[in-house]
Amino acid sequence: MYCVRKVTDDLFWVGGNDHRLSLFENIHPIPRGVSYNSYLLTDEKTVLFDTVDWSVCRQLIDNIKAVLGDRDLDYIVINHMEPDHGASLEEVLIRWPNAKVVSTDKAFTMMKQFGFEIGERGISVKEGDSLSFGRHNVTFASAAMVHWPEVMVTFDTTDGILFSADAFGSFGALDGKLFNDEVDFDRDWIDDARRYYTNIVGKYGSFVQKLLKKAQSLDIKIICPLHGPVWRSNIGYFVDKHDKWSRYEPEEKGVLIAYASMYGNTETAAQALASKLAERGCLNYRVYDVSNTHVSTLIAESFKYSNIVLASVTYNMGIFPVMHDFLEDMKALCLTGRKFSVIENGTWAPKSGTLITDFINNDLKSMEIIGNKFTVNSSLKTDKEAELDALADAIVESMK
Ligand code: FEO
Repeated sequence: MYCVRKVTDDLFWVGGNDHRLSLFENIHPIPRGVSYNSYLLTDEKTVLFDTVDWSVCRQLIDNIKAVLGDRDLDYIVINHMEPDHGASLEEVLIRWPNAKVVSTDKAFTMMKQFGFEIGERGISVKEGDSLSFGRHNVTFASAAMVHWPEVMVTFDTTDGILFSADAFGSFGALDGKLFNDEVDFDRDWIDDARRYYTNIVGKYGSFVQKLLKKAQSLDIKIICPLHGPVWRSNIGYFVDKHDKWSRYEPEEKGVLIAYASMYGNTETAAQALASKLAERGCLNYRVYDVSNTHVSTLIAESFKYSNIVLASVTYNMGIFPVMHDFLEDMKALCLTGRKFSVIENGTWAPKSGTLITDFINNDLKSMEIIGNKFTVNSSLKTDKEAELDALADAIVESMK
C-alpha cells in the first residue's frame, strides 16, 4: 500500500518513516524515529529527488508506482549520496531503466564506491547549472560538507522550492504530518532538530554559513529537506536557528550543568550549585548526569546554552571516561565560544578539574573559564559554601 502526500499540485512526498531503527548512524538514539524524505515531481518529465534508506525501499517503490501510474520515470536527482538517502538508488534504477541520474561528479564517484554502476545514465551538474522539466526549471548549487563533500541542493525556480538535502532536517518520524505547520515544532520538534543538526552537521558550521548566504538570494517558499517536516511557513524561524547553530552562537543565556559522579558526591556539588543559581534568579539551566545521558543530547544542549558547568570525579588519575567523551565530542564538532566552569572531585589526588581546564584551554577554541576551579575532597562540606557562592555569583555575572 502506498503512503504519499502532496507537497504542491505536482510534487509529492514519497519517502518513508522508520520506527525500528534505534540508533541513527548506529550511534545516535532516535526514540521518535526518523523519516527519509524523497519527492516526486510530475511535470512534462517525471523527476525523483533523492531516494531513501534501504529499510524503507519497499515503501518508496510502492509510492513512486502510485504517483507515476502508467508514466515512466525520467530523472532521478541525487542531492546527497549517503546511504540513508542513496541506498535505494540501485533498486529504482533497476525498476525504471530509462531514468537518468542527475548529480555531482563527486556523487558519481561515491556511487561507484558503493557499487552502483550508473554508466551512460549519469548527467553531471555543477554550481549554477540548470535543467528544465517542463513548467519547472531547477538550478543546482553546491552544498559541499553539508554534510558530505558531494552534496548539492536543487532550487525549483518555478515554485520557489528548495530541495535542501540534509540541511533543515530533523530526527523524528513524520507519521503523516508532513508540514511544519501541522505540528507544534517549537514544542515537540526543536530539541530533536537541534540534536540532529549539532551532531550530524555541527562540525561544518562554516559550510552551512556558505549555504545560508546562497539561500539569502533565493525567493524560497518551501523547503524540502531529506529528514523531518517540509517547511512552508515561518521559514525564518528555522533559518535563524541554523544561522545561530552554524555560527556556534548560543541560542539562550543559560547553563548546562553536566556531572560525572561515582557515588553521588560530585552530583551533590552540581546540585548545590544549581540551587545557588536558582536562588539568584538564574532559572534557565538544565542538570544532566553524563553517565545516563546520551552524549548527542549533551552536545545539543552545549550548542543551546551560553554557559557549561562540568563537574567530574577523578578516575584512574584522569577525567571520568564519559565526561572525557563529551569533551572529545565538543572538540570534534568544533564548538566554540562557551563559558565554562569546572568542579572536580577526588579522594586522595583530585586531578580531573585541572585536566578538564587544560582540555578547554588547549583543545577547544575561544572558550572562557568562569570562576575558580571548585574542588571537592570526597564529599562537599559546609566550609566550602562561600567558595560555591562565589562560583554561582561568577556564573550569573558572566550572563549579564
Ligand atoms: Fe541524512 Fe548525510 O545523510
